[in-house]
Amino acid sequence: MKKIAVLTSGGDAPGMNACVRAVVRAGIHYGMEVMGVVKGYDGMINGSFTPMTRRSVSNIIQKGGTILKSARSDEFRTVEGRAKAFKQLKENGIEGLITVGGNGTFTGAKLFYEEHGFPVIGVPGTIDNDLFGSDFTIGYDTAVNTALDAIDKIRDTADAHERVFFVEVMGRDTGYIAVRSAIGGGAEMAIIPEKLTTADEVIAKLGQGAAATRGSHLIVVAEGQKPGNAHELAQQVKDAIPDLDTKVSTLGHIQRGGAPTAADRVLASRLGVGAVEGLRNGLSAKMAGVINHELVYTTLDDAINKRKPVNPELVRMIEILNGRIY
Ligand code: F6P
Repeated sequence: MKKIAVLTSGGDAPGMNACVRAVVRAGIHYGMEVMGVVKGYDGMINGSFTPMTRRSVSNIIQKGGTILKSARSDEFRTVEGRAKAFKQLKENGIEGLITVGGNGTFTGAKLFYEEHGFPVIGVPGTIDNDLFGSDFTIGYDTAVNTALDAIDKIRDTADAHERVFFVEVMGRDTGYIAVRSAIGGGAEMAIIPEKLTTADEVIAKLGQGAAATRGSHLIVVAEGQKPGNAHELAQQVKDAIPDLDTKVSTLGHIQRGGAPTAADRVLASRLGVGAVEGLRNGLSAKMAGVINHELVYTTLDDAINKRKPVNPELVRMIEILNGRIY
């Protein structure tokens, strides 16, 4: 394989740049030409390819976002869109593709491979950590640390005013960010989509009367539990215990930005090299991941369709340290 392309797609994740750097440099190391695709699958459809050099990826390992830009492409969801992309790759002499992204990105990559037999390797890049086939996804560790930093700050003001804070974190329909940031931030509870929680359970946990209003409380709520759930819960708690001063803080997209942590930079570098080596070794429709410190390749089909449950050991820990997890 002499010429490959790399793209980033879906929600950006800190560490994507470190991965692009690794793909470019590993590709060049193995004597390949590497093209960057600008704006994910849309860029592939439009033929937005740019030649990458060792220098073009200098000074990006520490940067959040993605120098290649990202998009959620509607056109690539169609058979026609994927056919256009295939034509562009062929016309540009590209023989292999590395896609860095999450579930949606891999769904597109899998269809692309099935329809055109084009060699493609996925790299898990999403703050949600919701992909089977890798213990961690690129960006997750950074997002957790960003959430943790915010939680620490919220704790200061919560304590000063003796308030109950519901802190909503990202994670799409999983509780990975919520569980880890709740443990690290010493939160009283983590409310995650993996387990339905009623307002009554939260109220019971907070207690009644003096017990409920004593000191401050911090509850981490995963966004995927139910849209707007943090606000709803806060209101229901307030209605049940009017003396409580409840507040909601939605952390939102700050969790997607910022310099990647060391863990994310190393993971991204390793998976970028792993993806190039996978293509060289003739693998296709696979995702490069790290499980128990070992580089592994999982079929895109499994990566998308198999569930990776939130570690029950972590859930058990929250129960021991803070009472109960819901
Ligand atoms: O998949 C990453 C993620 O940040 C999710 O945690 C969140 O639900 C979603 O993307 C937000 O997407 P957008 O940036 O398109 O609003």
